[in-house]
Amino acid sequence: MEFVEHLKSSVDIVHVVGEYVRLKRVGAGPRWVGLCPFHTEKTGSFSVHSTHQFYKCFGCGAGGDVIKFVMEIERLTFWEALRYLAERHGIPLPKRNDLSDEEAKKRGGVYEMHESAAKAFRELLFSGAGQEARAYLQRRGLSQATAEEFGLGLSDRGGQMLARLFEKQGFSGEEMEASGLVLRRTDGSGFFDRFRGRLMFPIHSESGKIIAFGGRALAEGDEPKYLNSSETAIYVKSHVLYNLNRARKAVQEAGFSVLVEGYMDVIGVYAAGVKNVVATCGTALTNFQARSLRRHASDVVVNFDPDKAGMNATEKSVPILLEEGLHMKVLQLSGGLDPDEYIKESGADAYLEALRAARGYFHWLGDRARARFDLKTPEGRVEAFKFLLPSIQKMPDRLDRLAVANDVADYLKMDAGVVLDEFRRAAAEKRGKVTRREEVFLDPKEMILLHALLEDPDARLEILPVLRQSSVVERLRARGVFEAIVKMTDAGETPSFGGLESRLSEPDRALLVSLLFSDETLSKDYTTEQAVACVRKLAMVERSSKRDELRKRMQDAERSGNLEEALRMNQQLLALEREG
Ligand code: UTP
Ligand code: MN
Repeated sequence: MEFVEHLKSSVDIVHVVGEYVRLKRVGAGPRWVGLCPFHTEKTGSFSVHSTHQFYKCFGCGAGGDVIKFVMEIERLTFWEALRYLAERHGIPLPKRNDLSDEEAKKRGGVYEMHESAAKAFRELLFSGAGQEARAYLQRRGLSQATAEEFGLGLSDRGGQMLARLFEKQGFSGEEMEASGLVLRRTDGSGFFDRFRGRLMFPIHSESGKIIAFGGRALAEGDEPKYLNSSETAIYVKSHVLYNLNRARKAVQEAGFSVLVEGYMDVIGVYAAGVKNVVATCGTALTNFQARSLRRHASDVVVNFDPDKAGMNATEKSVPILLEEGLHMKVLQLSGGLDPDEYIKESGADAYLEALRAARGYFHWLGDRARARFDLKTPEGRVEAFKFLLPSIQKMPDRLDRLAVANDVADYLKMDAGVVLDEFRRAAAEKRGKVTRREEVFLDPKEMILLHALLEDPDARLEILPVLRQSSVVERLRARGVFEAIVKMTDAGETPSFGGLESRLSEPDRALLVSLLFSDETLSKDYTTEQAVACVRKLAMVERSSKRDELRKRMQDAERSGNLEEALRMNQQLLALEREG
């Protein structure tokens, strides 16, 4: 386990989480907040503590250390998460065998096969056999530099390249099949490649690992036009956005993402300088994907193909994006062109201009309604209202909803009051579900003590003996936490959040987490002397309340004639007073 500790102390959780979540620092303190990547929310209940290196969501309860975070967000096993962090931070790993469990090994093999498949595809594309495919790219205006940046490749027409390669690398038939890149012949006589003679687009996880491929047919009329990887141990289609690995930084910087339909659209738009572009991989947009976008920016421009399928897909994406709290705009390019074609036809500048001019989804949806219903009749307007309402009700933010309510009323020439009533009803339904963050109130002295014990070694040295001696601890609200701190130091360890966490019962752990993230006083605005004075004061109060109790029991004993008992109480009282 030593390696785990070493790793945890070498990486900064704020930095790691920051790659997935926009974090804002609270004042100058150790706490950072953002929108929780594990559930849908509008206000940030997700906190990261830089001193104690853990995260906690007060909305959904998710929480843990940096390893847990990577496990959850990248869907990795414990060992995979360790490897991931170690590799990214240049920390040498202990020998492989010490670091594997079965599941991780299996997935490790699938990752390896994807990595070497991508390499083989690339090599083939830039070899003599790739001439035709390269000519195809050229015809489509795709430069070699772009092809390289996106790792494009070519799969072997004969269908044996990967099967042979994997065999040579020592993978078993079962392992090969698990990669999804190689299929078993139905007559059992061997294996062949899933992708044959196609232009290959590697698909990456958000952190940049190759997890799947899309393969485009090179000849007109070849079916299907795109063949995609099936789902494997490392690929869940509905979770992945094509190009998010490259785009995420640009999305954060631009404050919005551009969502397109196809691989070629992504590449065309990206090559035109709009790097914050992603695509779904031939599936309908999911909430999971929407949330991935929301983690990086709150705005999105949907730029699907201007054909019937693309318009339907846009319409379907409205409630999903709104539900996840995204501000959505729609860009419908003119001339029936998809983004890639449009850029080729009109140039990057025209595309940028169109992007800038993209309008709020409501206008687009309104146009759809206008085309579909007769807004001149009252019935038509009611129908249109019914068509628009569900999308608007999905907006989690009340002010956003109200703004749109006015638009709707205006647009449909309906009474704004009626529209607002409908909206209020929707809002009331939603309100029931809001989770509240629980605040813990603690005596300020207790708070300072806890803080000092965890973070001020000088204070700790003076505080601990007092704590050990007196029965102060028993009266503290966070008694379990204090006792664990004493035990840790007795065992020769320095108290830290990580060490404490495993020693605490669940309620005490929850208490500690809430305290560390409390908005109150947890910055160090006290001196060591003050912290020590706190514990002395608590001890004093403790002694005096004990004295009071003894005195009372002594009087009771005297009154009931039990002189022996009264005498004993008196002695205890004297002893207590000698202590100070
Ligand atoms: P398009 O047909 O619009 O392809 O499908 P495209 O990306 O514009 O590619 P070009 O310009 O024709 O070469 C959009 C996306 O839908 C998925 C792919 O992800 C594709 O990029 N798709 C399309 C499939 O999965 N299978 C198909 O047969 C077709
Ligand atoms: Mn296209």
